[in-house]
Amino acid sequence: MAIRLGDEAPDFTAETTMGPLRFHEWKGNGWAVLFSHPKDFTPVCTTELGAVAALKGEFEKRNCKIIGLSVDPVDSHQRWAGDIKDVTGHAVNFPMIADPNREVANLYDMIHPNASDTMTVRSVFIIGPDHKVKLMITYPASTGRNFQEILRALDSLQLTAGYSVATPADWQDGDDVIVVPSMSDDDARTKFPKGFVAKKPYLRVTPQPNR
Ligand code: BEZ
Repeated sequence: MAIRLGDEAPDFTAETTMGPLRFHEWKGNGWAVLFSHPKDFTPVCTTELGAVAALKGEFEKRNCKIIGLSVDPVDSHQRWAGDIKDVTGHAVNFPMIADPNREVANLYDMIHPNASDTMTVRSVFIIGPDHKVKLMITYPASTGRNFQEILRALDSLQLTAGYSVATPADWQDGDDVIVVPSMSDDDARTKFPKGFVAKKPYLRVTPQPNR
C-alpha cells in the first residue's frame, strides 16, 4: 500500500553506515528526514549527500535527524563516503541505510518500476514527533534536490503544527503567515494580538506568531 500524508511512517530494522538500527527507536520523539538516492558512486548523488552533510547542523537546530538510503550495501556506502568528502568537502555525518534486499525501499514505495526496476528514486519523507508522515517529495534520478527547500518546508511544518496558520508560496522563516480560513475574525483577533490584514475575506495575513 502506498504511504499517504498522515499515515504512520513504517518502522523497520536496517543495517546502516553507523550500525544497525530500528527506525522509530533511532528517531525518538523528534523529527526525521528519510531520503533515498538511486545509487552509490553516481554524480548527482555525490553532490546531494555532500549538501546534506553540510546542512546537518541546520537540521539539528530543528530537532530533526537525517538518514539516507539506497539499495547498495554498507561497504559500498563506506567506500563512497571518501569520494563525497573529496568532492564536496563535507564528510557524511549521518547514517546511510544499506537496503540491498529492498525491504525499506518497498515499505516506502521508493522503487518506481517505470522509472527504474533496480534503483530507488529520490524520495523525501519528513516524519513528525508522532511518527506520522508530514511531507513527501519524489524527484527522478536526473534531478538533484534542493535541500534548502527541505529545510524551508520543515520550518513551515514545525510552525503550522503549533499555530493555526498556513504559509504562503515561497514563504521563508520570519515572513508573514496566513490565518487558517476555518478561524473566525473574532478568534483571530484574540489569537494573533499583532493583528491581521484581510486581503480577501479568506486570505488574512499576520506576522509570524512565534517571532
Ligand atoms: C546520479 O546520481 O548522477 C544518477 C544516479 C542514477 C541515475 C542517473 C544519475
